Amino acid sequence: MRAHHRDGRSPEEHEEPSNSMARILVIDDHDTLREGMTVTLTRSGHTVSAVRGGADGLAAYRKAPFDLVVTDLKMDGMDGIAVTQALKALDAAAVVMVVTAFGTIETAVKAMQEGAYDFITKPFTPDVLRAKVDKGLELASTKRRVEKLEARTAAHDADAALSHGSLVGDSEPMLRLLTQAKKAAQSDATVLVRGESGTGKELIARMLHQQSPRREGPFVVVHCAALAETLLESELFGHERGSFTGAVKRKLGRFELADQGTLFLDEIGEIPHSVQTKLLRVLQEKEIQRVGGEETLKVDVRVVSATHRDLQAEVKAGRFREDLYYRLHIVPLTLPPLRERPEDIPALARHFVAKHAPRVNRRIQGLEEDTLRALARHAWPGNVRELENIVEQALVFAEGEQLTPADLPVHLTGGAPRMDAGLPVPHGDRPLPEILEDLERQLIARAYEKAAGVKTETARLLGIKTSALYYKLEKYGFLPKGTPPEEG
Ligand SMILES: Nc1ncnc2c1ncn2[C@@H]1O[C@H](COP(=O)(O)OP(=O)(O)OP(=O)(O)O)[C@@H](O)[C@H]1O
Ligand SMILES: [Mg+2]
Repeated sequence: MRAHHRDGRSPEEHEEPSNSMARILVIDDHDTLREGMTVTLTRSGHTVSAVRGGADGLAAYRKAPFDLVVTDLKMDGMDGIAVTQALKALDAAAVVMVVTAFGTIETAVKAMQEGAYDFITKPFTPDVLRAKVDKGLELASTKRRVEKLEARTAAHDADAALSHGSLVGDSEPMLRLLTQAKKAAQSDATVLVRGESGTGKELIARMLHQQSPRREGPFVVVHCAALAETLLESELFGHERGSFTGAVKRKLGRFELADQGTLFLDEIGEIPHSVQTKLLRVLQEKEIQRVGGEETLKVDVRVVSATHRDLQAEVKAGRFREDLYYRLHIVPLTLPPLRERPEDIPALARHFVAKHAPRVNRRIQGLEEDTLRALARHAWPGNVRELENIVEQALVFAEGEQLTPADLPVHLTGGAPRMDAGLPVPHGDRPLPEILEDLERQLIARAYEKAAGVKTETARLLGIKTSALYYKLEKYGFLPKGTPPEEG
């Protein structure tokens, strides 16, 4: 059994500045009173700074926060209410007590509404002042402890999301994005995540939630592209029983389910006009109506949406409502394509080896330098998702302890697929269909890359229909499932 601290408190709690030696700021323009309070509180063992006015007090607090502030209410210039407001704006955890004259209780109440914890009425004895200050310091130390706990939890969450969790990358463009994302996470603003397919939009959306004050609430995803118009509507807003054929019971919408949390609207560029209009109304009114329902329900939801499309171009083309666009992209975050941050490739590749090896091929420990070089030369039209797929596939083939260039698909290592070297020699443990699929995947990837991601051109190079290409791009993970064909 572990030894307990004698008084039952953890050693850490002793680090808290003791209430008997706190830093206190006294603000009063009345010399006698100010000096009297200073003497009383100094005798109690506190370190006291005394100033004549609110502006000086704020300046001092800005330099180094105090454990407690005692301010007179009625002063020339900045009065006690203004001081309280300013202090609270500066530091939400500031502990403020106001000094009132007899008969000004109403003003004191106003100060407490602004966040003062207590007031003291003139004239008062040193004992009353000491008692009230002690009460305030008690409160201050509780606040500090809570703040510390919260900071620790937040740091832990951020760690989980960034290091073991998932988000890998410390290239300049990624760091810039992460800084913006962290700031955005703290606010409740609506975020629009933009970026090509496979750049990590969903991952960022999850991080925004995990690092936000809503992290204890739900994170709810809607894949807008995957659902037909009427289904999407009832998915988002719910429906009442009998509101349409097949609505056999009441269904709660995702907005309701995301109450107090974050709603992630993936592929927002794909939602039909009618749903755009409803969505706009919900974002404006912060209330929903289930399909076929009368009742309006208040919802408290933070919306993060994502799209691989150029939404502004969609607005110009008349396919996306401009007013909704402005509602959604209050904070835009743009994920850089992988080809613009090749520095991230080695760390990502190692991350994916560590992520998939335990399941796919336990022998593999890492990647040879040459393998990393080959990966760095590729253009990655399918971005991080493509890299992840390639590493996972390579793991299936690999036989040594490190991934070698030979484990990579041939289009990555430069050579044209030659019958002798490029093709894996069947060794009985991989069936022919699997080998053929792999070959097909590699050929599609090469054509896709050569055509710089233009689907019609890729299909032409491969000699297949564009619709067939979409199917195959999705099958092999170059596109998310359910991607609707682009126009033109
Ligand atoms: N920076 C990163 N670190 C680690 N893994 C990543 C990173 N970016 C993306 N991934 C992984 O790549 C895959 C694709 O990411 P994600 O689904 O977030 O991309 P997306 O932009 O939403 O793609 P799509 O447009 O295809 O839906 C996921 O498995 C994700 O975990
Ligand atoms: Mg996605």
